[in-house]
Amino acid sequence: MKAPISVAGVHKHFGNIHVLRGLDFTTREGEGTVLLGANGCGKSTLMRCLIGLERVDAGTLKVAGTPIDKARGRLLRKTRSRVGMVFQRFNLVNNVSVFQNVLYGALGRHPLGLLRVAKPLAPRSERDRAMHCLARVGLADKANQRADTLSGGQQQRVAIARLLMQDPEIVLADEPIASLDPRAGREVMELLWEVVRERGMTVLCTLHQLDIALEYGDHILGMKAGTIQVDAPARELTADQLQSLYQGAVRVDGQQPVTRSEHETAAPLSAATYSSNREGAPA
Ligand SMILES: Nc1ncnc2c1ncn2[C@@H]1O[C@H](COP(=O)(O)OP(=O)(O)O)[C@@H](O)[C@H]1O
Ligand SMILES: [Mg+2]
Repeated sequence: MKAPISVAGVHKHFGNIHVLRGLDFTTREGEGTVLLGANGCGKSTLMRCLIGLERVDAGTLKVAGTPIDKARGRLLRKTRSRVGMVFQRFNLVNNVSVFQNVLYGALGRHPLGLLRVAKPLAPRSERDRAMHCLARVGLADKANQRADTLSGGQQQRVAIARLLMQDPEIVLADEPIASLDPRAGREVMELLWEVVRERGMTVLCTLHQLDIALEYGDHILGMKAGTIQVDAPARELTADQLQSLYQGAVRVDGQQPVTRSEHETAAPLSAATYSSNREGAPA
């Protein structure tokens, strides 16, 4: 079976900080892989490299068969259209309707771009599809509301509907529940996992919560200070074996981790990190 994502010998620096320190792994088709690690260990940087938003210093990253680290222009856009993203901060367009946000998921399929996915001009078939996707996440009744009037959990469900509209082969989810309270977080995790299974998508999802990783992941990649320390099926792992990911030097920048136990709390990242993610959002 072809590997949807394969990473070999990847290094990445930001100035003096050696963020990715020689990563090697592959994911399997149709599986849910959780990339687990404490804050600051390099998870988001890896995700940004996998979508071509950051360039690596050494090594190769193949996504859906394309060497994404070398792809430019049309090939990069085409590959990105096959990869769906879910972010911690939802990345919806706030001042337009929920329905319009879902329609934006079709952007990659339309060379004419925004015009073809703007609500009044979008073909009937796409509008019907968008409504179906919204119904699948239980938000058909919110279609005409502005996105920013919804709760966090609802906004992340809209992001999942947009993902369904895009219909990618691979999903990269970067801390999809870190901005949500535990109950909404679990609902979103359930829904995300359900829909990727229904569509047979392959998902790579970063999390910092150990318990949730073990519950949902088919496979676990445990990351610590820019290295992969664990690469095993979730059923072969115990929580105790993963504790070391949170002990000692876990961050790549040498700073001390926050004192709270990170796998129990959902510490949001700075707004700056996520505003820079926006350019890669499907909408
Ligand atoms: N664009 C950037 N410029 C400089 N440093 C960065 C940048 N993005 C991330 N870093 C640094 O890389 C380290 C790892 O961050 P990140 O990949 O966001 O980790 P995680 O997602 O595991 O919390 C952090 O020390 C962060 O400060
Ligand atoms: Mg992160």
